Amino acid sequence: MAYVWDERYAGEHYHFGTEPNAFLLTQRDRLKPGMTCLAVADGEGRNGVWLAEQGLEVLAVDNSPVALEKARRLAQQRGVALQIELADLLDWDWSGHRFDAVVAIFIQFAPPGMREQLFADLKRCLKPGGLLLLQGYTPRQLDYKTGGPSQVENLYTADLLRAQFADMDILHLAEHDSVIHEGVGHDGMSALIDLVARKAG
Ligand SMILES: C[S@@+](CC[C@H](N)C(=O)[O-])C[C@H]1O[C@@H](n2cnc3c(N)ncnc32)[C@H](O)[C@@H]1O
Repeated sequence: MAYVWDERYAGEHYHFGTEPNAFLLTQRDRLKPGMTCLAVADGEGRNGVWLAEQGLEVLAVDNSPVALEKARRLAQQRGVALQIELADLLDWDWSGHRFDAVVAIFIQFAPPGMREQLFADLKRCLKPGGLLLLQGYTPRQLDYKTGGPSQVENLYTADLLRAQFADMDILHLAEHDSVIHEGVGHDGMSALIDLVARKAG
């Protein structure tokens, strides 16, 4: 069976567009040139490429080869260096990696059970003082139907993120309903949750 994300990403269009995620843009002042950054499940590279344009050294990981080829092309068109790795993040060797920032935008492919492991990996691969920027959907998104997974258990609540990242300094945690236009994949009023957290130094 063909991989569902490869099917979504097939063709010339960028499923989530080529502009960075709106929440990520609001966090630009926290991001400094020279920082090392993991773009988690970066898809077609809209966020990884923008981060590289800000001067960060970015590793974009995803398990869709179709997406990563488009990410490679986007980076080339924009004239930035983007390191790319094809991998299943639920089965990746995180041990050799340490980053100043981890950017995890709409990574709700992980169901409970796997999600705890994934969140632990995100934390472990941050350097002391490193920043995690994460955005996802809350369960109310199932009413809006403007993007995201249909499994309610994969979505985030503020309580869940507060508990999962209790060992970090939570700098910002906000649930909000906002209109986003991110390609055809995320389009319209959306129930979102944003997290910015710092690993203890
Ligand atoms: C909703 S998309 C978000 C893509 C990107 N972060 C963005 O905001 O444009 C989810 C991404 O997760 C990737 N993905 C799903 N399961 C994965 C896994 N086990 N390991 C790595 N990537 C995965 C998909 O290929 C897809 O690109």
